[in-house]
Amino acid sequence: MRASARTLQFLVAATFVSISIATDTIDLTTSITGNQTLVSARGVFRLGFFTPPGSSDGRTYIGIWYASIPVQTVVWVANRQDPVVRSPGVLKLSTDGRLVILDGQNTTVWSSAAPTRDMTSRATARLLDSGNLVVSHDGSGSPESAAWQSFDYPTDTQLPGMKIGVDRRSGIDRNITSWSSPSDPSPGPYTFKLLPTGLPEFFLFRGAAKIYASGPWNGVGLTGVPDHLKNWDYTFTVVSNPDETYCAYYIAASSPLLSRFVVDGAAGLLQRYVWGGDGEWNSFWYHPTDPCDSYAKCGAFGFGHCDTAQTPECRCLPGFQPRSPQQWSFRDGSAGCVRRTNLSCGDGDGFWPVNNMKLPETTGATVHADMTLDECRQACLANCSCRAYAAANISGGVSRGCAIWAVDLLDMRQYPVVVQDVYIRLAQSEVDAMIKVQSGKRRRPMVIAVAATISGVLLLGAIGFFYFWRNRARGKKGQRQAPGSRNNVLPFRKHTDLSPSADQRFNENKMSGEDDLDLPLFDLAVILASTDSFAAESKLGEGGFGPVYLGRLEDGQEVAVKRLSTKSSQGVEEFKNEVKLIAKLQHKNLVRLLGCCIDGDERLLVYEFMPNNSLDTFIFDAEKRKLLEWNKRFEIILGIARGLLYLHEDSRFKIIHRDMKASNVLLDRNMAPKISDFGIARMFGGDETTAYTLKVIGTYGYMSPEYAMEGVFSIKSDIYSFGVMVLEIVSGKKIRGFYHADLGLNLCGYAWMLWKEGRSSELLDEAMGSSSDHGQVRRCIQVALMCVDIQPRNRPVMSTVVMMLASENATLPEPNEPGVNAGRNTSDTGSSRTQSEFTVTATDTR
Ligand SMILES: *[C@@H]1O[C@H](CO)[C@@H](O)[C@H](O)[C@H]1NC(C)=O
Ligand SMILES: *[C@@H]1O[C@H](CO)[C@@H](O)[C@H](O)[C@H]1NC(C)=O
Ligand SMILES: *[C@@H]1O[C@H](CO)[C@@H](O)[C@H](O)[C@H]1NC(C)=O
Ligand SMILES: *[C@@H]1O[C@H](CO)[C@@H](O)[C@H](O)[C@H]1NC(C)=O
Ligand SMILES: *[C@@H]1O[C@H](CO)[C@@H](O)[C@H](O)[C@H]1NC(C)=O
Ligand SMILES: *[C@@H]1O[C@H](CO)[C@@H](O)[C@H](O)[C@H]1NC(C)=O
Repeated sequence: MRASARTLQFLVAATFVSISIATDTIDLTTSITGNQTLVSARGVFRLGFFTPPGSSDGRTYIGIWYASIPVQTVVWVANRQDPVVRSPGVLKLSTDGRLVILDGQNTTVWSSAAPTRDMTSRATARLLDSGNLVVSHDGSGSPESAAWQSFDYPTDTQLPGMKIGVDRRSGIDRNITSWSSPSDPSPGPYTFKLLPTGLPEFFLFRGAAKIYASGPWNGVGLTGVPDHLKNWDYTFTVVSNPDETYCAYYIAASSPLLSRFVVDGAAGLLQRYVWGGDGEWNSFWYHPTDPCDSYAKCGAFGFGHCDTAQTPECRCLPGFQPRSPQQWSFRDGSAGCVRRTNLSCGDGDGFWPVNNMKLPETTGATVHADMTLDECRQACLANCSCRAYAAANISGGVSRGCAIWAVDLLDMRQYPVVVQDVYIRLAQSEVDAMIKVQSGKRRRPMVIAVAATISGVLLLGAIGFFYFWRNRARGKKGQRQAPGSRNNVLPFRKHTDLSPSADQRFNENKMSGEDDLDLPLFDLAVILASTDSFAAESKLGEGGFGPVYLGRLEDGQEVAVKRLSTKSSQGVEEFKNEVKLIAKLQHKNLVRLLGCCIDGDERLLVYEFMPNNSLDTFIFDAEKRKLLEWNKRFEIILGIARGLLYLHEDSRFKIIHRDMKASNVLLDRNMAPKISDFGIARMFGGDETTAYTLKVIGTYGYMSPEYAMEGVFSIKSDIYSFGVMVLEIVSGKKIRGFYHADLGLNLCGYAWMLWKEGRSSELLDEAMGSSSDHGQVRRCIQVALMCVDIQPRNRPVMSTVVMMLASENATLPEPNEPGVNAGRNTSDTGSSRTQSEFTVTATDTR
């Protein structure tokens, strides 16, 4: 959890005792005062006076916080600018239908906006389980009877069901604004809100300056939020119609999930928090996430490039060049880009589509809901100030309406996946030049084959090609889809005006001059030939997601082919997108994905082959373990840590492995470790960024307690597994095989006992002899013990782990006694009660 967020919460101090008046309602005759509170019907939220942590002058506020968790987390404040200074405060409902806060001297310090309905004598104010405080004009509580509600006046938190945006009928414009400081709920500098012009788009402001934009909503997703949270019980949506425009998210009523979306003033971030089973708020989702999220970082007609394994940088749209090459070379892209060739402002102009970008800001664009793309193109050509156009709504794979930019294109960034086509206006000579460049470069045969196949289908509808560079035939939707759409495969976009030859030209990646991102697709026939039709002899082993075979390609290259069990509910395009994303994760401690094959139900992944097999075949083997001296083992531990660090923190996608174990670490020719199977959970439709999962994927023994018991996973679950693995590497003992019967301890408990008694070098694998660096050994054990802490929050993150492992002389924190599994025999399979209480979909078969 981010420290800044922690400051907004505080443990209920022993003195902080609330007396609930056992109701969720006040009416015209009742009030709450002092330490009385209202509690919603099912006990989810509590309303009452509170004092912010760290404020010593006795100011109190009316607030709403969660009733069921020990960390007082205030989600709404009524009088954020008007504290009660003279206690005790009183909250009551006045006869004119306003909520009123009086101080100890009966002075009104705050009152709510005027009700939108006439009051009756039965009027009430009720605190709902959603966290909404609703004034009902007749006390009936029906939605129509609402005369005022706290959801219309958010503070810094968007709760499920709360709308951010404008209601044009009532004139209410809802934003969320950070607290000034953890001890002062008055409005701080950061605000997240809708800007009313153009396509629906939400902006994070610091004061008057935009610092982050969500990207325009295109009917499918916010194009600047590639990782919309999606979970089995979580949906996000943007609604835009003449009455209102807003974003909201919803949690299934049956879900126990507590979720909040906050403008964090200390960090200057938008954050989504989920209450974890570990007793704290976890945040896996926040924006701005990386430098390319900074608003308009690369200036006009520039776009940000922040991909894996590369330094963030600014680039220019095709046909443009840096305005100030000198600044550009110093990595300052803010001056943006200028045209290489001026527009002719007549027939001499054309368009070039880019489609793997966040859409440019549309607040200055004109949206035409009724125009077709053709009409839009004509309109753009006819107006000399028009710079670009794009479809306004691509929901369902169909283009509706359009946006026309007669302003500079700002705030674009590149994604590894297709978002939607934006047609950039360029001088025709530039377009021609680019077409020439494209057709000059030969693409890899594999990619052409795919494109041609898909185009072939689309060609059926190709009536003509009025302008043949319109769309790409790769009719896949973006990876950053709206939540809720993950499992619906969108229909292919229609490309009635496209020729296959044109298609081959439009690979944006070529266009922007970088490596072809297309992943080789292998023919099933090629794979069958290389593996002898999955012959038993070529089987290398069985992993969590299916068997692995050794294949020998025609050119003699050896590859490992993973045959995924076909349980995935994903469509082909989605699967391909996932594979491409995984293929982009490249690090020397990760196994390289070479390609994939999709044929009917078959889903195959082709990896580089690791001749030395997996780590467990060494450290748990009576003979081979002797080959691994301490130095080598230490290097392996460091290598795994670096690979995991890359997955967790350095790659753009923040992959949680979910099944870290010795058999998933492969060794190359030089015995350098490479993590395998990363990201596969993702391909099976699991969302890597969310905190809960229906199916627990993993291997017992390596699973962190909170993951195994409650299905809560996070990077901290991987850290736990890493800790277990380090103990295995040091000791040469299997977590699933080791049980010290006399002491009643498993490997973690045993390691801790030795640690406490200062005998930790006894844990060392006796096969290693005495040449080991005992300082290093102790440090590894110490770090491992921190990693297997029962409390996720006490486990270090990977960057800390790497630092601690590498720092020779630093004094490291003392580990705690490892939790839950200490003392329980984990080696007997099936007999333990906890084991049968959850599904292990991927188990260790070794
Ligand atoms: C609640 O407030 C009343 C009046 O101020 C006080 O007498 C009482 O002790 C308080 N109760 C608790 C539990 O603090
Ligand atoms: C506040 O008003 C209430 C009811 O009108 C009255 O009983 C009480 O004495 C008043 N208190 C002060 C300090 O004026
Ligand atoms: C946010 O909304 C409040 C009303 O709830 C308004 O007073 C305030 O000006 C808005 N802030 C910004 C930055 O628009
Ligand atoms: C986009 O189009 C879909 C399908 O017609 C429609 O339901 C949706 O409301 C549209 N979205 C916006 C923001 O216009
Ligand atoms: C392009 O236009 C700009 C301003 O409109 C002008 O300063 C510049 O000289 C033009 N360049 C060429 C090559 O015509
Ligand atoms: C061109 O577009 C701009 C911006 O939308 C508009 O102000 C201007 O009137 C348009 N010019 C013509 C000739 O339509």
